[in-house]
Amino acid sequence: MTCKQRFSLILAFCYSALLLMTENCPLSHKIVDDCGNVGLLWNCSGLNISKLPTAIPSELENGTVTLDLSFNLFSNLTEETFQQIAAYSNVTSVILHHNYITKIENKTFRKLSNLCSLDVSFTLLEKSKIDADAFSNLDNLKILRIHRNNFQGDHVCEEGDFQHDVYISYNDDDTSWVANNLNPKLESLNIKAWFKVRDSIPGVSQSEEIIKCINESRKVMFIISESFLDIGWSSYAVQMAITHAFHNQRQRSIVVIIKDGLPLERLPKEFKHIWWCIEHLRWPEDETNDETLLLNLSNVLLSE
Ligand SMILES: *[C@@H]1O[C@H](CO)[C@@H](O)[C@H](O)[C@H]1NC(C)=O
Ligand SMILES: *[C@@H]1O[C@H](CO)[C@@H](O)[C@H](O)[C@H]1NC(C)=O
Ligand SMILES: *[C@@H]1O[C@H](CO)[C@@H](O)[C@H](O)[C@H]1NC(C)=O
Ligand SMILES: *[C@@H]1O[C@H](CO)[C@@H](O)[C@H](O)[C@H]1NC(C)=O
Ligand SMILES: *[C@@H]1O[C@H](CO)[C@@H](O)[C@H](O)[C@H]1NC(C)=O
Ligand SMILES: *[C@@H]1O[C@H](CO)[C@@H](O)[C@H](O)[C@H]1NC(C)=O
Ligand SMILES: *[C@@H]1O[C@H](CO)[C@@H](O)[C@H](O)[C@H]1NC(C)=O
Ligand SMILES: *[C@@H]1O[C@H](CO)[C@@H](O)[C@H](O)[C@H]1NC(C)=O
Repeated sequence: MTCKQRFSLILAFCYSALLLMTENCPLSHKIVDDCGNVGLLWNCSGLNISKLPTAIPSELENGTVTLDLSFNLFSNLTEETFQQIAAYSNVTSVILHHNYITKIENKTFRKLSNLCSLDVSFTLLEKSKIDADAFSNLDNLKILRIHRNNFQGDHVCEEGDFQHDVYISYNDDDTSWVANNLNPKLESLNIKAWFKVRDSIPGVSQSEEIIKCINESRKVMFIISESFLDIGWSSYAVQMAITHAFHNQRQRSIVVIIKDGLPLERLPKEFKHIWWCIEHLRWPEDETNDETLLLNLSNVLLSE
């Protein structure tokens, strides 16, 4: 290897090391934040991180800083989350949309007294998980984005919009069970159900119709049986049903009926991931205890 070759090899190595480092959280100068402050942007967006990097670039010392932490894996915000950066920089804007935040603790922003803009939209916050003093000391906050979280009543559809109480998604093998066992019970509870056989709209393609029906129903119910696991789950219709319910912020409206004594482990992983926001009911093997069953059904279907 000649000297020149060796030199370019070293150069290439240094260059890729530099790329790796800057790839971490790029810095931009002279950006303007949402409040009009001119400063630096430390952009840690989309790096699958759950906490801030501890190595803070020296350029950020005493600087006016926007922190972009969007599209990451932050799951909770605590007193520790911003402690280090708050002692080092003058943070005026924090962007945290598209994370998995379920919790904001007291004192989280205590040291970020110049914070002017905060974006915690598109995360998994619930009212009860935001501590009473979570936002205290944010005397300079002007912009707070907090939409698209799990706040109850956050439905796109207004009440009264729904033509049906429930859209039922099931595998064809369970058609007679739905018609003969489930539907009479729903009818006795005065619940209007929509399932494909009865309410098909001639001339409309099946996928269009499913979307329309789900949109016009208060709840979406999945009948999870042996045959549903075998075939139903992978079907396009089912995937679409759950996707649509999610896109419309209607995840609290998903009801799962577990048949055939299936253990929870066998449920599709899509459900397991969102188990905390699903209503479920185990269908008893013998249906003789009608009253309990009816009570449970009305609990999951008539609750808001
Ligand atoms: C941060 O970087 C991402 C791309 O990695 C970009 O989409 C985003 O707009 C940047 N943030 C800001 C505040 O400019
Ligand atoms: C983050 O994780 C996702 C899913 O595991 C992966 O597809 C993506 O490439 C990861 N991004 C980075 C920057 O590591
Ligand atoms: C940042 O501010 C601190 C406290 O005012 C000061 O001691 C330090 O020298 C400043 N650093 C720079 C780089 O200006
Ligand atoms: C907060 O999230 C971090 C990172 O995911 C985790 O290590 C820590 O245990 C969590 N703390 C609390 C109080 O939930
Ligand atoms: C922090 O930045 C804001 C906006 O640039 C500025 O008004 C404020 O005086 C700064 N505070 C400190 C302590 O540097
Ligand atoms: C948060 O602060 C409020 C008011 O000071 C207090 O009532 C509450 O118990 C605190 N919550 C936690 C989890 O420490
Ligand atoms: C969903 O229903 C609402 C209210 O009935 C309607 O305005 C909207 O167009 C529907 N969307 C779809 C995709 O059908
Ligand atoms: C059905 O209701 C009974 C009585 O209220 C309760 O004990 C049982 O756990 C319920 N089952 C389900 C799956 O909700």
